[in-house]
Amino acid sequence: MTYKITAEELAVQKDYMRRVADINAQRELPPVAHVHSFGCQQNVSDGEKLKGMLAEMGYGFSPEVRGADLVLFNTCAVRENAEDRVFGNLGALKHNKKENPDMLVGVCGCMVQQEHITEKIKRSFPHVDFVMGTHVLHTLPQIIYEVLTDRKRRISIPECDGVIAEGLPLKRESGLKVSVPIMYGCNNFCTYCIVPYVRGRERSRDTEDILREVRAAINNGARDILLLGQNVNSYGKELGTSFSELLRRINDIEGEFRVCYMSSHPKDATRGLIDAIAECEKVTRHFHLPVQSGSSRILKLMNRHYTREHYLELTRYIREKIPDAALTSDIIVGFPGENYEDFKETLSLIREVRFDSLYTFIYSPRKGTKAAEMPDPVSAEEKGKWFRELLEVQQEVGENAYRGYVGKVMRVLCEGVGRTRDGCLTGKTRQNVIVDFDGDRELIGQFVNVEITDALNWALLGKIV
Ligand code: 5AD
Ligand code: SF4
Repeated sequence: MTYKITAEELAVQKDYMRRVADINAQRELPPVAHVHSFGCQQNVSDGEKLKGMLAEMGYGFSPEVRGADLVLFNTCAVRENAEDRVFGNLGALKHNKKENPDMLVGVCGCMVQQEHITEKIKRSFPHVDFVMGTHVLHTLPQIIYEVLTDRKRRISIPECDGVIAEGLPLKRESGLKVSVPIMYGCNNFCTYCIVPYVRGRERSRDTEDILREVRAAINNGARDILLLGQNVNSYGKELGTSFSELLRRINDIEGEFRVCYMSSHPKDATRGLIDAIAECEKVTRHFHLPVQSGSSRILKLMNRHYTREHYLELTRYIREKIPDAALTSDIIVGFPGENYEDFKETLSLIREVRFDSLYTFIYSPRKGTKAAEMPDPVSAEEKGKWFRELLEVQQEVGENAYRGYVGKVMRVLCEGVGRTRDGCLTGKTRQNVIVDFDGDRELIGQFVNVEITDALNWALLGKIV
């Protein structure tokens, strides 16, 4: 059952925050926490809540594990290599815990919502003090209080469809670029994906709660608002509203700022939504539409609910309505049963759509998903070959797309110091493309017009006009 946590439940956790803060206040020096979020933006956003609660409890923060009094890993389960990294990092902590037996170690996030992972942590990582599932993130204060006072291990992984926790303190990673979750969970059950199993069913935040958070962020200097959800296109279905409506409401907020969103499912990206985006001048001209495969046969096996033709038609409509739009995508290579013919269809789709850039992954079987049970006869070596071929096509298509920007004048949000030359600034265009240019550091946080003079394969170079 999905529910919003009540004022009473929030008050209980606030009380635990005070109790932990009292314990911490008795120390000679304030305690330090190392919080690391693996995986997607949604997880990074959860990490901001975890850090917000820890800050209220008197913790300072360190980017290092060494010397930390509390280490919290907010984990990702989407592919095996993400999980391997967490296990590697957890193993290394054994050593730190020997040096400092008072250090607390916690693991939360998507990975621990899987039973076999929690069993492994219980068995092989005795130095882990607490494990906390995705639906009880807001109970961190209580768990820390209990572990601090009795030093007994806590494993808290209730099975439920998910909660919405409003009113938790936040410690944002940046003031300029702010992530705002609009919905949680996923109902789609793509056959390769673990997310619906670990994040529960789709649930949308109330529009007014979202608008309040966005307005406050903009008043505090935010200029780049990233709306987050596993499938933002189905925002508001259960509330009788829609993602288009939400975008229009945010677009109406005064001031110059940008609105981006992640992630979109092509099956729910309607013409109506594209029309709304075309009309909202603050919404990015960037469509990240994960296609996963260019073969309709594989898309069916993936349970994606669209065909190659539908996807091509959708991207044609975007190009027609918003000619300056940038398109990017996610691709999975080596899905069970995929053959070279299917893979070639993916390559031809990439050439046809002319993506700006791609996120490419080799299929990773996830225990408990349908695809993990499907016959998968192609060898890892063969999949590696296809993957390299994909990277070449991606390079070629990306370079072409980026060259197309040269000579244009683009509105850029200046975000900080760049990497291409000493002292240069960096920012992003409305298409979410990185641009480096020379300028005064005082411009950071402002919008500037930049003429594009050159293109690398991951960024543009330009000069302020
Ligand atoms: N194997 C490989 N890639 C995956 N993704 C999701 N699940 C898997 C998996 N089991 C990719 C998809 C998705 C992105 C976030 O991660 O491309 O869009
Ligand atoms: Fe994000 Fe999915 Fe990874 Fe969870 S499993 S952190 S939702 S990418």
